[in-house]
Amino acid sequence: MTLSRKDFQALLIVICFGFWIENLVQGADDYYVYSPVCQMPAVNPFTWDTMSNFHRKTLRHCHNDSDMVTSEFDFETHQYRLHVHEHLAKPIMNRKGNATLECEYQEISRDNSDQKPDNAYNQLRRRPIEQHQFVPNNTDYMITSCYVRDVTKHRELLQQDAISFIEDRLPKEKVKDFVKDESEVHKPSVLIMGLDSTSRINLRRAMPSVYKFVRQPGWFEMQGYNKVGDNTFPNLLAALTGDSEKGVGDYCDVTKPGCLDSLNFIWKRFKKANYTTAFAEDCSSISTFNYLKPGFVKQPTDYYLRPLLFAIEKQFKVTNDFGFAYCVGRHLSFSYVWDFGQQFIDRFLGRSPMFGFLWSNSFTHDYYEGATALDNLLWKYLKSFEESNLFQKSIVILMSDHGHRYNTLRRASTGYFEERMPMMFIYLPPWFRRKYPHLASNLGKNQNRLSSNYDVYMTLQHLLQLDSKSVDEFPDNLRARQCKSCQSLFFELPFNRTCQMAGIEEKWCCCQPTETITNSPHVSTIAEAIVQRMNEHLISHNLSDLCHNFTLDYVEKADRKTILSNGLRPADKNEQVYIIVFETVPKNPIFEATVRWNSRTQRLLHFDVEELSRLTSYKNDANCINRKNAKKYCICKDSLSRPS
Ligand SMILES: *[C@@H]1O[C@H](CO)[C@@H](O)[C@H](O)[C@H]1NC(C)=O
Ligand SMILES: *[C@@H]1O[C@H](CO)[C@@H](O)[C@H](O)[C@H]1NC(C)=O
Ligand SMILES: *[C@@H]1O[C@H](CO)[C@@H](O)[C@H](O)[C@H]1NC(C)=O
Ligand SMILES: *[C@@H]1O[C@H](CO)[C@@H](O)[C@H](O)[C@H]1NC(C)=O
Ligand SMILES: *[C@@H]1O[C@H](CO)[C@@H](O)[C@H](O)[C@H]1NC(C)=O
Ligand SMILES: *[C@@H]1O[C@H](CO)[C@@H](O)[C@H](O)[C@H]1NC(C)=O
Ligand SMILES: *[C@@H]1O[C@H](CO)[C@@H](O)[C@H](O)[C@H]1NC(C)=O
Repeated sequence: MTLSRKDFQALLIVICFGFWIENLVQGADDYYVYSPVCQMPAVNPFTWDTMSNFHRKTLRHCHNDSDMVTSEFDFETHQYRLHVHEHLAKPIMNRKGNATLECEYQEISRDNSDQKPDNAYNQLRRRPIEQHQFVPNNTDYMITSCYVRDVTKHRELLQQDAISFIEDRLPKEKVKDFVKDESEVHKPSVLIMGLDSTSRINLRRAMPSVYKFVRQPGWFEMQGYNKVGDNTFPNLLAALTGDSEKGVGDYCDVTKPGCLDSLNFIWKRFKKANYTTAFAEDCSSISTFNYLKPGFVKQPTDYYLRPLLFAIEKQFKVTNDFGFAYCVGRHLSFSYVWDFGQQFIDRFLGRSPMFGFLWSNSFTHDYYEGATALDNLLWKYLKSFEESNLFQKSIVILMSDHGHRYNTLRRASTGYFEERMPMMFIYLPPWFRRKYPHLASNLGKNQNRLSSNYDVYMTLQHLLQLDSKSVDEFPDNLRARQCKSCQSLFFELPFNRTCQMAGIEEKWCCCQPTETITNSPHVSTIAEAIVQRMNEHLISHNLSDLCHNFTLDYVEKADRKTILSNGLRPADKNEQVYIIVFETVPKNPIFEATVRWNSRTQRLLHFDVEELSRLTSYKNDANCINRKNAKKYCICKDSLSRPS
């Protein structure tokens, strides 16, 4: 092709215009979301106050001996086999003279007769393992033990391990139907992978390999994703059931057995649509639906790792790292979950539509450097899933519930955003992008629009009715109960979307820029009013016997939110939103309160003490109290006499 002089000039003008446009909107590059009503900044992960104390940690392994017993899926008979690797015991057997190797297993199963089956399990009697034997097809988990028996009949334990099985229970007709009419084109498989407390800021800082992986074609980062609740439970509840922690109280009490079972968990609808479902989470004591809650009475998904992890955390040696169970027996707590995920993929990908939910707390819940130790390992799992063709066929989500909520990262200048911006990456396989280009294009646009957990719930709903043309085609019973204006991320989100429209309360909203006013005279008046409200709250909740009164020590930082032109201006122009960070005595906890203050009446408007953020850990202060939310604001009297 040759260009005439005129064409060339035109081309030049187009190019220059392009540069000019790009420069005009340059400002928007510093923002994840930029609209008249929402300006969410793109936070720099590498500020000096977060990097000066940042150390990369190395992954510590849990064992360096080889597996005595391994399992293998036999694709001909569709059953698992067990193999005993006797040669590994030869050195010890030789040393002991005429010794023999004896390997046994005990089946573990969920104890459905218990009142809280999530916190119970059955352990069947010991059975010898025959070399290459088949595993009975109703066995989900087992504990294996290998002993050396010497001539005096004395037995010495060589190795103990835990094995989970994703048994093949698909009726043959179903497999045939699925494979024959390639119905996966209508029913995309979905795998959700979650890391607790990982913001998109810390992902970039701590996990360069994983971050690079999710920047490949097909991945969409929801950069305007804003959390809707304080800790794991409300955020996952919103994404998986469409409910809020407060709103769910209208239906049942989540601390009572049976309540969680009755909610609209998205995996129930996948199950109804003939998907095979799985759920696994590490650290059984702090699991999302079990920490200070009874868990599920009925097993929530077809495959469910909890009974095994619960059993072995009780029976095996557990070593802690990064604050929680790290090695459980011979493996990382994390690895049980991701290995289970790998088995699930190997068993069902391409044979049945599948929905899987994997969640890990162990590395990242308490220490933000935990993510550095995990980076390479998680990357290896992603590569391994890739080799299993997961990314050819399935929709994959890598997400978190919230960012770090206390200590170093939270106390840094970017801490407000760190806490509120969990990572959210959505992968669409090539066939899906080809078949539904308009949905992929909408998802692309939505990357820089304000979105929330409720939208993720609606997105999952959408995957089960991909022919829908608009949100209006979703009947009321499939909508997120606590945010009816929330919608699938496959439909274009409104450009001028406010936090209110996305079901995000003021306290969590990252949309309004703030100005720092720490030295303004009424800051301490506001802080005193907050502390007074906290003390009244202790009394009205009958906690003053257990918890010490608060006295304001000093105000560390005060910010005022700028009211954007969002049409939601308060009726009274003297009302403004303040974010106050302050320390109290005794024990110097640091709190952050987001409050509405009327400067004319000098009064706080609507401030719920239960919604305070606690920026320092309460680990040594709140042992006298069991209620999760109250732990944040109770300085136990009995903790004062003890050194912390
Ligand atoms: C690995 O082997 C070394 C030397 O045999 C031993 O000291 C160490 O404790 C082992 N580590 C684990 C995790 O078993
Ligand atoms: C081992 O057993 C065999 C036969 O039972 C016997 O002949 C042999 O002496 C024994 N060896 C030792 C080291 O005890
Ligand atoms: C499980 O094993 C039993 C006994 O071997 C057999 O009758 C049954 O068909 C198997 N079930 C499946 C789903 O393969
Ligand atoms: C699920 O599978 C059954 C049996 O194969 C079939 O009758 C039913 O229509 C399927 N349901 C859906 C929602 O595809
Ligand atoms: C967003 O709001 C601004 C100001 O209120 C308005 O000018 C603009 O047209 C709106 N944009 C869209 C896409 O609705
Ligand atoms: C604690 O604070 C409340 C409210 O300010 C006050 O009424 C009460 O007397 C205080 N209790 C103690 C023990 O100081
Ligand atoms: C506090 O105790 C009083 C009297 O025992 C009781 O009536 C009230 O319901 C309790 N309040 C709370 C919030 O537990």
